[in-house]
Amino acid sequence: MSGTMEATWPRADGRASRHEGKRGDGQDGNGNEAATPRIRIATDGPYLVSGGATLDEAQIVSVEGHHEYRRVRTFDVRETYALCRCGNTTTPPFCDGSHKTHRFDGAEAASRAPYRDRADVYPGAGAYLFDDNRCAYARFCHREDGEAWTLTEESSDPRLKREAVRASMDCPAGRLTHVDTQDARVYEPALAPGITLLQDVDEKVSGPLFVHGRIALEAADGTEYERRNRYALCRCGVSRNKPFCDAMHVNVGFAASLGL
Ligand code: SF4
Ligand code: FES
Repeated sequence: MSGTMEATWPRADGRASRHEGKRGDGQDGNGNEAATPRIRIATDGPYLVSGGATLDEAQIVSVEGHHEYRRVRTFDVRETYALCRCGNTTTPPFCDGSHKTHRFDGAEAASRAPYRDRADVYPGAGAYLFDDNRCAYARFCHREDGEAWTLTEESSDPRLKREAVRASMDCPAGRLTHVDTQDARVYEPALAPGITLLQDVDEKVSGPLFVHGRIALEAADGTEYERRNRYALCRCGVSRNKPFCDAMHVNVGFAASLGL
């Protein structure tokens, strides 16, 4: 059994707004069938995005004792476009062919086992926390009242349970998810299909591509990864768990322009 919670997306002016996206009826507004966004990984090359997935950029900012997204720009993109995966492009975030001159090795090392099989389970009175350890070091799991794991232990308290669920739902990597102990509801944010470039202001580094809204991901060998609502794709080229981010962008000080 699964369910969703409505997520809000902070606008550049700081006010919360519903995350705007494609129509939910599969139509493009002119009565035409809307294409479905998907990402195909090119062998030792870029992410090939099709279906008109939106592309924007957000900073991860500290607000009191937690982190929030602050959208800073939206890109005008075509139906299809190629995003750099090697970290060497001179036209970020788009591919300029640098992967060839840099002889980029984009071999995909990530496990194909389903999330539920890979995840550890942390029980709590109000909710169970699933954790697959696929971390992008975005730090949304740290809240004023504790971290997602300790908040889960204390989830008999409704306020702390809400904090725990907030912490897991904000995680861009999809590493953390909560399941309600009472009705087995899976807490997932309702996010429109799109890609968000993350910029980590505190660490002064550029982070991964935050892919949201259940966008299909096709490996270079043509097989499809498990379809997930949230995941973080490496764009620095250094992850040891390609195509997913493993926080190496912090270690290597990856900075893809953009005023950092
Ligand atoms: S990516 Fe998820 S698990 Fe990792 S620090 Fe951020 S919120 Fe926490
Ligand atoms: S972008 Fe995070 S490891 Fe490459």
